[in-house]
Amino acid sequence: MITKDTIDKIFETARVEEVIGEFVHLKKSGSNFKGLSPFSDERTPSFMVSPVKQIWKDFSSGKGGNVVTFLMEHEHYSYPEALRFLAKKYNIEIEETQQTEEEKAHADERESMYLLSEYAKNYFHDILLNHEKGKAIGLSYFKERDISDESIKKFELGYALDEWTAFTDSALSQKYSLDYLQKTGLTIVNGDRKFDRFKGRIIFPIHSMSGRVLGFGGRTLLTDKKVAKYVNSPESEIYHKSKVLYGIFQAKQSIAQKDNCFLVEGYTDVISMSQKGIENVVASSGTALTPDQIRLINRLTQNITVLFDGDAAGIRASLRGIDMILTQGMNVKVVAFADGEDPDSFARKHSGEEIGEYLTENAQDFIQFKASLLLEDSRNDPVKKASLIRDIVNSISKIPNNIQREVYIQECSRIMDISENVLFSELAQILKKAQGNSSDKIRQISSPVTGVKKETQKASKIDPKYILEKKIIEILLLYGNEVVEFMDYISEFDENGKEILKEEKYKQKVSDEVYMHLHDDEIEFANEHFNRIYAEIINLLNQEEDIKIDNFIHHLDVDLGSIVSDLIMDDDKYALSDWERKDIWVKKKEKNISKLVTDVIYNLRRVLIDEKIKDLKQVLSSEEEVSDKESFRTENLQMIIDYTDLKKLLYEKLNRVI
Ligand code: CTP
Ligand code: MN
Repeated sequence: MITKDTIDKIFETARVEEVIGEFVHLKKSGSNFKGLSPFSDERTPSFMVSPVKQIWKDFSSGKGGNVVTFLMEHEHYSYPEALRFLAKKYNIEIEETQQTEEEKAHADERESMYLLSEYAKNYFHDILLNHEKGKAIGLSYFKERDISDESIKKFELGYALDEWTAFTDSALSQKYSLDYLQKTGLTIVNGDRKFDRFKGRIIFPIHSMSGRVLGFGGRTLLTDKKVAKYVNSPESEIYHKSKVLYGIFQAKQSIAQKDNCFLVEGYTDVISMSQKGIENVVASSGTALTPDQIRLINRLTQNITVLFDGDAAGIRASLRGIDMILTQGMNVKVVAFADGEDPDSFARKHSGEEIGEYLTENAQDFIQFKASLLLEDSRNDPVKKASLIRDIVNSISKIPNNIQREVYIQECSRIMDISENVLFSELAQILKKAQGNSSDKIRQISSPVTGVKKETQKASKIDPKYILEKKIIEILLLYGNEVVEFMDYISEFDENGKEILKEEKYKQKVSDEVYMHLHDDEIEFANEHFNRIYAEIINLLNQEEDIKIDNFIHHLDVDLGSIVSDLIMDDDKYALSDWERKDIWVKKKEKNISKLVTDVIYNLRRVLIDEKIKDLKQVLSSEEEVSDKESFRTENLQMIIDYTDLKKLLYEKLNRVI
């Protein structure tokens, strides 16, 4: 584990604009930098980096965060990988917390296995390209299959000589230990005898998301039915078949950019499609998709398109597995190929453009696809049809978002010619059965659209939080496009170690300023409606030059639209002068937008901090039994103190602004 000190040092040293500048062409724009979004294809820049706040925001995809989250989003690093990248860039020595002997041995073992796999990959690749037999047998096989030199390089393909111990001998001569050769499965050891697992096969290295070699697939060149077509690395400390996807390393950038992932079955499907320019493709390597694999894709996109070979039995067998993708809230489409065709053979026969067209034209929503497919089976068979309905509704019940579920029910009602009521009651039954099981509870909570919650609906209008949140929406609608000068106070320490607040002026769009503050403090509106309107505004403000309120309202659903019109029409019933009585620190109706924005945001933060402190105090005074009461108390007290300090700082800033 990287120590907290090191992490702090990395965050102190790393400059978000420098790091992002390596990946995105940035131009100065006011106090910020702007550039083209690296997460989508766009022509007008909507990607913004703030050196003052050390954060970035991509308005076209809605992503944003700090320097580490950028690396995690863009390079798809894990948290520690991102930290290591930064430490290397800024020459920061990484301190790790003490590992136990056992942990150390474990880590060493994994590291050794990685190194050996890397060596093996290079060895096989080198044999393929440079060894006489490699060229004559391996390379000519790839040529026969139209696999290009670029693809061979990109996927680091290789060939293992058809000799019992050619590879093992080479590895041993390089001082790799037999122990690890065995543990990675590269060498099969049987008593005194040992031989190369992949002997005589062409080699497909399997990479992790960050590009480390975890294992291999080896295809035989023989057509003998008795010889297994593929031999794969066995499960090991570093290779967990259920957690990897073939091609993910080569595809990740494209998956994120295209916001879609094509899922195929085999190594050759991936390579052939990629070679034709469809790069956002990965393979499950012939098995049903696992939740871990779906999560890998989920880090990159919400959209999966499953490509089916043209054999009907295979399609039906895969349907179940796909329900699992729905469970993770992803959108699933399917494309079926003609009988006898698979993505590899199809890709070889067509140009990249034709493939793209075919995929777009034939992509069908999974649920619709499943419904019409099963419908074929059950024509004129009422019993079958009843079980089909249950099957489809069961798939629909896996979708976490209930609005989406509803849309599907309507759609299926149409396709299957069954009343919506029947389908809804079936759905209700399935959901009820699933209730009480915890994953379902999570689904209920995490559902982005669970209707308006009771409390928020009743939110009283004199609730200061309500007023402030409302004010923020109003500000965005009325002044969101305006560029004004803001002032921040950066705390610094003078030579006596005394904290001083230093003024810092900067110019930017009101909407950017609001976004950054809310984002910085991870503030979410308590009011569900405001939350949704806020998301819509931010989205819109950055697609268009100017926000036109009429237009905006038309795009919202009815209930949000009416709230927005009310907001704008509202003749400042809660006039700012009135706020003071409710302990809201705005002196008078502001002429100065900058002040208005700052006041409202600071006040909202103050209210939230007050709430937090109140909560903490309540916890402290409650009689609840906790195992380690002393440390629990001190922890809580410390948090109260921290929040109180923060509040003081806010008051000070507010005082200056006013
Ligand atoms: N597979 C495997 N073991 C086998 C057969 C298949 O691991 N005995 C996996 C491989 O990952 C393979 C995938 O299932 O890529 C799909 O199998 P298949 O379609 O038979 O292989 P292809 O990769 O399409 O190979 P080819 O095009 O050379 O026939
Ligand atoms: Mn194939």
